[in-house]
Amino acid sequence: MPPSLLILSVLMLTVVGALPVRAADLEAGRRKAEPCGACHGADGNATIVGMPSLAGQPAWFTHWALIKFRDGRRKDPVMSPFAANLSDADMADLSVYYAAQPPRRRPQVVDAAKAAAGKELATLHHCTSCHRGDLSGQNQVPRVAGQDLEYLRKLLRAYKAQTAGDLEGLMTQAAQPLSEADIENLAHFMASLAPAPAP
Ligand code: HEC
Ligand code: HEC
Repeated sequence: MPPSLLILSVLMLTVVGALPVRAADLEAGRRKAEPCGACHGADGNATIVGMPSLAGQPAWFTHWALIKFRDGRRKDPVMSPFAANLSDADMADLSVYYAAQPPRRRPQVVDAAKAAAGKELATLHHCTSCHRGDLSGQNQVPRVAGQDLEYLRKLLRAYKAQTAGDLEGLMTQAAQPLSEADIENLAHFMASLAPAPAP
């Protein structure tokens, strides 16, 4: 992405995030998260291969992801039904609950050579400008450090194919220059990192 476009994109990040908010309730979020635990783990640390962890995600990111599943901008046959009947207040409570849960490393094997190649690509393609240096995420940008390897690969392929239901198109744009080998290496790099919670 050319530098001017990148600066514009980063500026947009601060504009799009505004949500209709009431004070979100973490305890209510814990109760409302019970049906989600079967797949995402009781505290948002998923253990099923291919299933995203939600622990330590920025609240804005989770809230927007749920809105997109509810209104059909983002579609998944397994996940979409669980967002269909959530109210805005439910989403706010769930988002602050997951943001407050410490993310843990997932038990997965990564390829060290691919991770090293991915590290260079992450700098080259400015992934760290939006996802932060430690890839812990911010605002509507998700934490990708320590996320499930298969999920990371699947999502990058979907952004590249322009089918991911991206919130404002920034990530779809960022994925366009990536080759299949780049995606593979970047996925191993992200999966290899210790997951730090977003600020
Ligand atoms: C039966 C399993 C299942 C249940 C239960 C479930 N989900 Fe999901 N969830 C998924 C799958 C699968 C995905 C990945 C979808 C995709 O590939 O786009 C997902 C994705 C998500 C994402 C996007 C994560 C990311 O990093 O992109 C969020 C947020 C989410 N779920 C929240 C919830 C919440 C909140 C609940 C409970 C109200 C819930 N899920 C219940 C299976 C489930
Ligand atoms: C201009 C800002 C920006 C840049 C640069 C960027 N991203 Fe993203 N990324 C985002 C945003 C915003 C999202 C959430 C998009 C959505 O709504 O689906 C995202 C989502 C993702 C996801 C999906 C994670 C999940 O849990 O759903 C992955 C994986 C990812 N980015 C990896 C990368 C990689 C690798 C690079 C570098 C090649 C990169 N990003 C560059 C802003 C950016």
